[in-house]
Amino acid sequence: MSNVTFLSGENIPLEMHRVCMVQRVNLLPVEKRLHSMREAGFNTFLLKNRDVFLDMLTDSGVNAMSENQYAAMMQANDSYAGSETFYRLEAVLQDIFQMKYFLPAHQGRACENIISKTLVKPGMVALMNYHFTTTRAHITVMGGSVEEIIGDEGLNVQSDSQFKGDVDIDKLNEAISRLGKEKIAFMRIEAGTNLIGGQPVSMNNMREVSRICRANGVPLVYDASLLADNLYFIKMRDAEYKNVDIKEITREIASLMDIVYFSGRKLGSARGGGIITSNEKLFFKMRELIPLYEGFLTYGGMSVREMEALAVGMQETMDIDVISQTPIFVEAMCNELLAQGIPVVTPPGGLGCHVDAKQFCSHIPQTQYPAGALAAALFIAGGVRCMERGTLSEMRNDDGSDRLAEMELIRLAIPKRVFTLSQIKYTVDRLTWLYRNRNLIGGLEFVEEPNVLRFFFGRLQPIGNWPDLLVERFRKDFGESL
Ligand SMILES: Cc1ncc(COP(=O)(O)O)c(C=O)c1O
Repeated sequence: MSNVTFLSGENIPLEMHRVCMVQRVNLLPVEKRLHSMREAGFNTFLLKNRDVFLDMLTDSGVNAMSENQYAAMMQANDSYAGSETFYRLEAVLQDIFQMKYFLPAHQGRACENIISKTLVKPGMVALMNYHFTTTRAHITVMGGSVEEIIGDEGLNVQSDSQFKGDVDIDKLNEAISRLGKEKIAFMRIEAGTNLIGGQPVSMNNMREVSRICRANGVPLVYDASLLADNLYFIKMRDAEYKNVDIKEITREIASLMDIVYFSGRKLGSARGGGIITSNEKLFFKMRELIPLYEGFLTYGGMSVREMEALAVGMQETMDIDVISQTPIFVEAMCNELLAQGIPVVTPPGGLGCHVDAKQFCSHIPQTQYPAGALAAALFIAGGVRCMERGTLSEMRNDDGSDRLAEMELIRLAIPKRVFTLSQIKYTVDRLTWLYRNRNLIGGLEFVEEPNVLRFFFGRLQPIGNWPDLLVERFRKDFGESL
């Protein structure tokens, strides 16, 4: 990140880019926002873009692309087999990760499908610092299960720990001796651990996990979807890496892993995904599944234009001025919210700002989905779309009861180089208003609940008429304001 000091002493997240292309957004009046929310079944995934003012649902596939990415798309070489575009992308990934083989896939979860089909057998356990929704779903579908072995600090909403995504080494050793290597499908480390607030994993921790996995013959899989943020935090928070080039840090991480996979919707700011490995045996096993589920080996479900954009985006990810933009905005937003007394995950992570709905809406029981309710309330209050990352995003227990999430969060994603500081300030303003009126927010209940990944399509309704009361209060406090 470029070192710029302000005369005022303020810590302002300065943009190291200029905006060349823009898209119009709409801010509907509060009554219409409530109407849209009702139509969306109080699920922010079901809102229509035309009704959303600031889309902080995710960074997936919506990071701003650079002029060089767009330019590269124009020289894509299309063919079913053997396209030049594929070989360009392969060469970039081989160079960055210093790994031998690349398998293309249409997105991150497609990689998870291939890896799970290759390594998970019924009854097996996949160990990981923390699960991601699609990861767990693919492992469970194969008859396996997930065991999380994150350090205790990782689940503390407010903490001083700089690497909350670290694996608990004692738990790893214990799990290996309890289960035995035959029962362990793989160990997975998720960079920039998503569901606990975009929290990084330290290099020391990865080194130790790798040493133990290699000594015990357990394959080590790295989910690099949020690698960009993790690289930034290693450079900023680990003195050993202060002067180490981002590419060198990436290569060191990759040298510790057996398989690296990623969502190109996140890493590389394009769309697509892929698996990289130097392990020949695993490569040949996984390769068989690519034509079956993804497409031929030289496109794997991706359009060649996206592959070109991904190749350039991956190279740009090695630039600290590019990858610092989201984390410094997340930090600025978290600090402003904290100044208003609003509970957020600390230290600020990558990916987005995470608000603790358990504290924010402490009057709503977890079985009434406080994070889902807060996400709906924020859209009504400000037209800002965020994502529930709490009990609603969990699967039910076998007995049909809700599995209560360890962390009940809303995530305000800050896609790379998309929002301005005034838009961040507006969001903080509406959240502050909501916090002062939090007692008006009530719970939600399902009216339509899918069995798998219910948070995507499920429809809910408010318990009571709290959304109307919220609109009434908004009009009272803000008058004619949108
Ligand atoms: C850590 C992590 N892994 C995997 C995925 C799945 O990637 P995709 O959405 O491209 O399928 C995501 C997406 O959000 C993610 O954040």
